[in-house]
Amino acid sequence: MLGFKSVKAALLISMLSFIGVLASSQANAACSFVSTINGSPLAIKATATDTPQAKEFLETCNNPYTKAYAADASLITQKTPKGGKALFGYNGCSGCHGGKLEGVMAPSLRKDGGQGAFDTKWVYAKNATDKGMFETISGGSAGVSGGVMSPWNITLADHVGDGLSTDEILRLIAYIRTEYRGDGEKTWMK
Ligand code: HEC
Repeated sequence: MLGFKSVKAALLISMLSFIGVLASSQANAACSFVSTINGSPLAIKATATDTPQAKEFLETCNNPYTKAYAADASLITQKTPKGGKALFGYNGCSGCHGGKLEGVMAPSLRKDGGQGAFDTKWVYAKNATDKGMFETISGGSAGVSGGVMSPWNITLADHVGDGLSTDEILRLIAYIRTEYRGDGEKTWMK
């Protein structure tokens, strides 16, 4: 039989854990990111120059550019701010993934076939979501396909070159989505 004291203690513990759940659900209102390399937390930071779209994504994990690009193709080639296609060339993504995203010395991002094992499917299954692809481009990857992706997000200390803002990475993802020709489900349009 449980004594009165232990019942009181159990009650107190369950009340405290309830308060804890409330507090943590508030803290989790923001999207929390994990590294594609090892699943550890990825410390993407908000910055003073974040656009409304970047803020929305950091808050909800939803990339508003994906549906906007699908609905209005002029955004893909927009000059200022640079649309996803210009960013892809300007930052040298095309050097490895090809000017048409067909895959050269890195996997195809169109996923409509090619030489490599990963020219028809995502190297990392989570890249079928915008959050997952954001984590891969932001924090880099482990080299499952034989080569690695460098980390690009400017808010991470080890980013490559000048780095890319969260907003730029979201525009790149939206562009990559418009070029998808694979037979997988377009989960990002949900
Ligand atoms: C130096 C070559 C190189 C450059 C430059 C490069 N990538 Fe990659 N990328 C790779 C390789 C190699 C992989 C596969 C990584 C792995 O297997 O872990 C990859 C993987 C990816 C993936 C995941 C593909 C999948 O099938 O899951 C995306 C998305 C991606 N890159 C986007 C980009 C973007 C956007 C840029 C420019 C900002 C870029 N890459 C620049 C080499 C490169």
